[in-house]
Amino acid sequence: MSLKRININQSQLRRFSSLPDLPACKYPTPIYKGADYEFIRASREIPSERPAYKKPLLIHEGHGQWLWDHTGRRYLDMFAGIVTVGVGHSHPKIVETVSKQISKLGLTTVHYMHPKYYDYVNKLKKKMPDKLDVVYLVNSGSEANELAFLIARLYTGAQEIISLQNGYHGGTYVTQTATGMSIAKYPVPFAPGFHHVMNPDVYKGLWGGPQCRDCPISRPGNCQCIGNECMAAENYFSQLKNTFNHELSSSGKIAAFISESIQGVGGVVQYPRTYLKKVYEFVKSKGGLCIADEVQAGFGRTGDHFWGFEGHGIMPDIVTMAKSIGNGFPLGAVVTTKEIAESLNKAMRVNTFGGNPLACAVGETVLDIIQEERLQENSKVVGTHLLHRLSTLMLDHPTIVGDVRGKGLMIGIELISNATTREPMPSTQVLDLFEDIKDMGVLVGKGGVHGNVLRIKPPMCITKEDADFTIEVLTRSLEKHRDQNIVNKESVFFGGV
Ligand SMILES: Cc1ncc(COP(=O)(O)O)c(C=O)c1O
Repeated sequence: MSLKRININQSQLRRFSSLPDLPACKYPTPIYKGADYEFIRASREIPSERPAYKKPLLIHEGHGQWLWDHTGRRYLDMFAGIVTVGVGHSHPKIVETVSKQISKLGLTTVHYMHPKYYDYVNKLKKKMPDKLDVVYLVNSGSEANELAFLIARLYTGAQEIISLQNGYHGGTYVTQTATGMSIAKYPVPFAPGFHHVMNPDVYKGLWGGPQCRDCPISRPGNCQCIGNECMAAENYFSQLKNTFNHELSSSGKIAAFISESIQGVGGVVQYPRTYLKKVYEFVKSKGGLCIADEVQAGFGRTGDHFWGFEGHGIMPDIVTMAKSIGNGFPLGAVVTTKEIAESLNKAMRVNTFGGNPLACAVGETVLDIIQEERLQENSKVVGTHLLHRLSTLMLDHPTIVGDVRGKGLMIGIELISNATTREPMPSTQVLDLFEDIKDMGVLVGKGGVHGNVLRIKPPMCITKEDADFTIEVLTRSLEKHRDQNIVNKESVFFGGV
């Protein structure tokens, strides 16, 4: 029995040596003319900045969903520069916009008006609920969230801010405090006034079943719902209410609640459907503002809606955005109501780069491309196709793939080592898989506090053929992983004898 298994494994490992064919690409292979790979690799060794792969990639050119390394090798980019290059690399329209705008005007600062600002802000406002009609332009997601916290504190006069465990809101001092993942928090005293509540995670958390979340596929199993009432949403909501009894001051006042619509860095965690609706109603009843962090889920990525919060049927008081807003150009925004924005009048506000003509021109072009190329619709169609194929993969590999979740082109695959306890796959094994996937031509991301969730969040222009190629690569890498594990276990057993 053991020998037979090893024979099968060896033949399967051999099959892995022939790589699946990348989908065709008309763009000519670019020739690398930059500095030597080893030289760059040595000079990149900066404390805390780690390349994603054991053998780091040197990427020098991109087009659409494709990236090229220094050897001329092409990769399918299924992570889009950490969910940023929403409309594809070096989009010709953006190239044209940047060159046209830089030849006219690059920077004015808020001291002068310029037409691009008004064109862009008006176009962005059309994408927002009517009452959210004041836009502040900044340069990053962290900066957007910092500003949102400041506005909420000024407007409400309260200080306490609640966020979710496992949420990610940025790398600056205050946003790091709002972040609920220790791996992203340095050991220094945190900014005052922040509280984290239990993450409503229906896969790893205390409550929840496969049907609780808004996802086109579900794991086998039953929910604990009673009638139409989602018990998971209710139980997690009770945890949040408890914070008011035990952690907040006796004033019972709160400045804000912030959450992502679907957690990004935390590993594509989706909450039970009605959770955010309950929380928003409660927080607003306590005088607090609700901040929707759309840095990852916004700009059509979730397919059904342009903004992730729309999928929860909620109305935020402040929306923060970045990443896909500029397709890689540094740009972020905070959108709120006029009444709330008035609170910023209490001091002078200067942002040297925020809202510069170049960023505005790029932002406007990004909105045009999403509409003209129907990228939100593509996210839904290709994302749903990918999710269905991934659910088969999950059923085929129940001991390694614990969960597949997401919406549109925001997808997570949770890798485990024990199907009953849902223990995360050890990081060394995840890294091997991650490396294999890259070696077969697909770049994905990793997330979650244990780094065991593969994140698929590509440029929204990918095709079904690209999705199928990704499935082929994932299948081969998972099969290799499974077979190596069986071989390893067998060798340990024989070694013991
Ligand atoms: C949900 C979310 N909010 C905020 C940020 C911070 O954005 P930035 O890195 O542009 O500061 C990130 C970055 O990954 C994010 O994913």
